[in-house]
Amino acid sequence: MKIFIDSANLTEIENALKRGFISGVTTNPSLLAKEPKSGFEKHIKKIVALLNKYGGNKSLSVEVFSRDPKEIVEQALHFKKIFKYKNLSIKVQIGWNELEAINVLSKAGISVNCTACMNVTQALLAANAGAKYVSLFWCRIRDGALDNPQDVVVMTRKLLNEGKSKAEIIAGSIRSVEDIRDAFIAGAHIVTVPPKFFVPMVEHFKTTEAVDQFFKDFNAWQK
Ligand code: E4P
Repeated sequence: MKIFIDSANLTEIENALKRGFISGVTTNPSLLAKEPKSGFEKHIKKIVALLNKYGGNKSLSVEVFSRDPKEIVEQALHFKKIFKYKNLSIKVQIGWNELEAINVLSKAGISVNCTACMNVTQALLAANAGAKYVSLFWCRIRDGALDNPQDVVVMTRKLLNEGKSKAEIIAGSIRSVEDIRDAFIAGAHIVTVPPKFFVPMVEHFKTTEAVDQFFKDFNAWQK
């Protein structure tokens, strides 16, 4: 049960890293587009430097920006060369043509996070093609109204387990704390969480109440 942070923001990533509860970072072109225009490669290198500052053992997913298998492989190899991060995972969207690139990269020993998966069959094809991670988009699955995200994750996990696949399910496209809970209960190995949910995940009014009472009683006793 691992939590990744779904962000390209350096401050948000560091706030999570210093608390030690994340195992990885997932970025995508839209998340990067929210950051200052410092240049894609320069910004990823800043994320890599931050991850190395905190031990260099967290996964980092960086997404290609092509649908052409040849270009995808070229971009992936370029990312490996310039980012020099041992836990780099190349994000490649699921697709008929993209499966060829996923297979080539996996056979070359490059970690692939197959992303934008919306159903069981996409996830299974990606896993069979060698993807290390299959990213199921929880809320976009719900938006599509063809499947229930819980069912998709439960079935995918069941079939991966039965096939003794090493692929791990990442549940992404999270829009609430309940989605996080439900995705883990459904069997996601990893949930990649937008940082705005971290504080709501940890705060509870009854916790505040209890701790206030403890300190009040203790201070009264000390007088
Ligand atoms: C995972 O990293 C995905 O890119 C991300 O969670 C997608 O979220 P969205 O559906 O809000 O774009």
